[in-house]
Amino acid sequence: MTGRPHAPDGRPVTVPRLGKMKRDGKRITMVTAYDATFARLFEEAGIDVLLVGDSLGMVVQGLDSTLPVTVDEVIYHCRAVARGTRRAHLVGDMPFMSWQISTEEALRNAARFLAEGGAQAVKLEGGVDAAPTIERLVHAGIPVMAHVGLTPQSVHAMGGFRVQGKTEAAAARVLNDAKAVAEAGAYALVLEGIPTDLAQQITEAIDIPTIGIGAGPHCDGQVLVCYDLLGLTPDLKPKFVKRYAEFFEDGVAAARQFRDEVRAGVFPSEEYGFGNVKTSETEEAPGLSLVKGVRAAYGPKG
Ligand code: KIV
Repeated sequence: MTGRPHAPDGRPVTVPRLGKMKRDGKRITMVTAYDATFARLFEEAGIDVLLVGDSLGMVVQGLDSTLPVTVDEVIYHCRAVARGTRRAHLVGDMPFMSWQISTEEALRNAARFLAEGGAQAVKLEGGVDAAPTIERLVHAGIPVMAHVGLTPQSVHAMGGFRVQGKTEAAAARVLNDAKAVAEAGAYALVLEGIPTDLAQQITEAIDIPTIGIGAGPHCDGQVLVCYDLLGLTPDLKPKFVKRYAEFFEDGVAAARQFRDEVRAGVFPSEEYGFGNVKTSETEEAPGLSLVKGVRAAYGPKG
């Protein structure tokens, strides 16, 4: 039991609906989320897709890459996000080496995201090499969002977090990857860190929605890491990130004010307390307050 509540209003965002959004020319919004409170915030804002990204390794766990993140950890966060999600489509990110070892292991791990994590789909980083696995997962009824271009799990092979597809030959490889995962049955594709014209070419060449991050404006949708979007990563400001709020600065200011008020004896004032112990003179007869409460709620008005 994941605890994902039923969407009371607004149709849930589903795999077929995302495909229709591309066909109808409606742009898709996706953000990462790692807990129920942030999921609620993005639900309130009407975001279409929530991704429990392995980026949690960097923004939540303080690591310098996503490589140590485990399947269990992503599933733990998935369950929390599912509890705060109603309408949005929920995707769990398959971490480093969770699908490459064997098809059986890929199936077992991917199934856990849906069965235990409450996700409706998995995302995996890979192109041509990932296509056979994607086909197998899709045949087993597990929707797959693919991810090509800058794939952070290959940070060492790429020699850092570098823009991919910058030369004609490299661009052709990324285009091939995109076509391969689309043909394998992926229902959507994240394009990360590639030139704008290449992202446009891919978006026009395949039928499934492309969701860009550092890939320019011509994708069918856009994704940002929520800590970047909300300004929670003060030391990190990649070129492709637009900060829509300054939660870190606001949080520091709020915590400073709390510190100062506690030190000055200003907080907590009376309104934040529970009054004093009743003396025998002021004490009500046992049960009287309960009777008063019930009368107020159900008794005759006026
Ligand atoms: O892990 C993640 O957050 C991602 C997004 C950046 C697409 O893969």
